[in-house]
Amino acid sequence: MRSPSTILVTGAAGFIGSHACVELLDHGYELIAVDDYSNSGPEVFARVEEIAGRFVGAVYELDIRDRRSLSAVFDRHAVDAVMHFAGRKAVGESTRMPVEYYDTNVGGTTSLLRTMHDHGVHRMVFSSSCSLYGDASRGPLDEASPVRPTNPYAASKWACEQILADVCHRLPEFTVLALRYFNPVGAHPGGLLGEDPSGTPDNLMPYLAQVAVGRRERLHVFGDDYPTPDGTAVRDYLHVMDTVEAHRVALEHLADRPGMQIFNLGVGRGSSVLDVVAAFGAACGSPVPYDIVPRRPGDVSELVADASAVAHAWGWKPTRDLADMCRDAWRFQQLNPAGYARSAHLANR
Ligand code: UD1
Repeated sequence: MRSPSTILVTGAAGFIGSHACVELLDHGYELIAVDDYSNSGPEVFARVEEIAGRFVGAVYELDIRDRRSLSAVFDRHAVDAVMHFAGRKAVGESTRMPVEYYDTNVGGTTSLLRTMHDHGVHRMVFSSSCSLYGDASRGPLDEASPVRPTNPYAASKWACEQILADVCHRLPEFTVLALRYFNPVGAHPGGLLGEDPSGTPDNLMPYLAQVAVGRRERLHVFGDDYPTPDGTAVRDYLHVMDTVEAHRVALEHLADRPGMQIFNLGVGRGSSVLDVVAAFGAACGSPVPYDIVPRRPGDVSELVADASAVAHAWGWKPTRDLADMCRDAWRFQQLNPAGYARSAHLANR
């Protein structure tokens, strides 16, 4: 089987999707980029092209649940494989809007599967999440750890995984690699591409960066009474460049064996919220002000990956550490203090 060379990327304008586009262009792949811009905008592709020194082959604004439009894209291009990032991802929001989360994440995935199948495309790298492990504070989690989603976002990712596994089981032409990310953060090292959430950031690293640049006053640290060394919650942070490198390596392994395989993507090392605050302060040259506030509902104490399976299967390991993640996130924030849309860079292109 030839290795895939034309990749359709859903959610291509998002944080991880846009970095994946750079990684794929850098490695000679042809890209079909699809996004509905519900949490992003088309301006990101000028930056992707500037970094990669190549054009993104084709860009389509569409919602992947719109099967007619999606089908037209597959009619027009000979797609070899799909990288599926599109979806809603805010945990808190998912508890308030469960129907939207199931509709977008599960409905989007089944629409994509249907369209792929109709067009004879059967290879996918799927964006899954460590959140489906739920509350698990007993050491590093491997892929066989029990799954206990505690919110609709996590449950929607679990539902997608189950659907993909069943489809692979019933239809042997399908091959899926599901990657369960722990906490991808950071930015492309050049400072052009990074995480640019609309509105108030939900996640720690973009919030920290906005405090450091003076856009927000202080970070709220959600809880210091967890059973962790400094009382703040522990996560396994992974550089977004390592995250997307793993996706590109996954493409090369899609043909290794049929069916569905699941891998954790993490560094295998835990950092507390206060560790991240300190590392960010070191990266930006001054301490980031914060207050301790009550725990955020739905948060868990500790989530750290046992990331050895992917290393064993593909000989691949992340190479960037927390200092790299903070340095790159800070560079992006400094160069784009108000995000992509209002940044002076490329405004006149
Ligand atoms: C969550 C999901 C993850 C998902 C990600 C994307 C879980 C367990 N994890 O990650 O699967 O991919 O969202 O949105 O559901 N924090 C603060 N102050 C802030 C923001 C965060 O103290 O302003 C703390 C949180 O309490 C947490 C840590 O920082 O302990 C990381 O939070 P965040 O960046 O939001 O990621 P997760 O909630 O771990």
